[in-house]
Amino acid sequence: MNLKQMAGIEAARYVEDGMIVGLGTGSTAKFMVDEIGRRVKEEGLSIVGVTTSKETERQALALGIPLKGIDEVPYVDLTIDGADEISEDFQGIKGGGAALLFEKIVATYSKKCIWIVDDSKLVKQLGKFPLPVEVVPYGSQQLVRLFEEKGFAPVLRTTPNEELLVTDGGHSIIDLHLEEITDPIALGTYLDQLVGVVEHGLFLNVVSTVIVGGQAGPKTIHVSE
Ligand code: A5P
Repeated sequence: MNLKQMAGIEAARYVEDGMIVGLGTGSTAKFMVDEIGRRVKEEGLSIVGVTTSKETERQALALGIPLKGIDEVPYVDLTIDGADEISEDFQGIKGGGAALLFEKIVATYSKKCIWIVDDSKLVKQLGKFPLPVEVVPYGSQQLVRLFEEKGFAPVLRTTPNEELLVTDGGHSIIDLHLEEITDPIALGTYLDQLVGVVEHGLFLNVVSTVIVGGQAGPKTIHVSE
């Protein structure tokens, strides 16, 4: 079985009747949403989904999963989402699929977050994967210049058609090619205070459980309860 699919299906087992479930974005999350859709249809599972992108919203609606917006629920019981890199101390980079802002908002109001990845995403230290920073388009070139001065090797993200990428929130993304992030907390704090930065892809102290798809089967790591 595809390793991402393995992790996605395993994670969907954590969804229980009556839950409000945050539905992540990306190729791994897609398998999880498919499996939840199957459970809704075949097992009569009764949940409300809160999606983290237009893409996931389209998928969930097509599967018949009942949905509410993040502002229509008091909280989210459980969010299941993918990740681009997870370090040994379970900090993460997300946003490869450009959905980091909505993903972080939904994660913030979730009681529990499960990340689903294939085993290639587990790293010693974060940073090989370019760190996405979501920015307001107005003044974005100034931020690119600032990041260049800092040696962050910034690249304004474009679509496959080479047009400027626009996120679901109407913003741009600057990818920082850092190679290694020695102090994610300090970098996150620095990025948080920059004018024009809406959010960044460092998801720190967010995850409670990681499910890793590997050749030997899915492995579940409980980070915290
Ligand atoms: C979307 O913006 C991301 O945070 C994804 O969750 C992340 O990029 C993982 O994507 P894949 O499952 O497609 O690798």
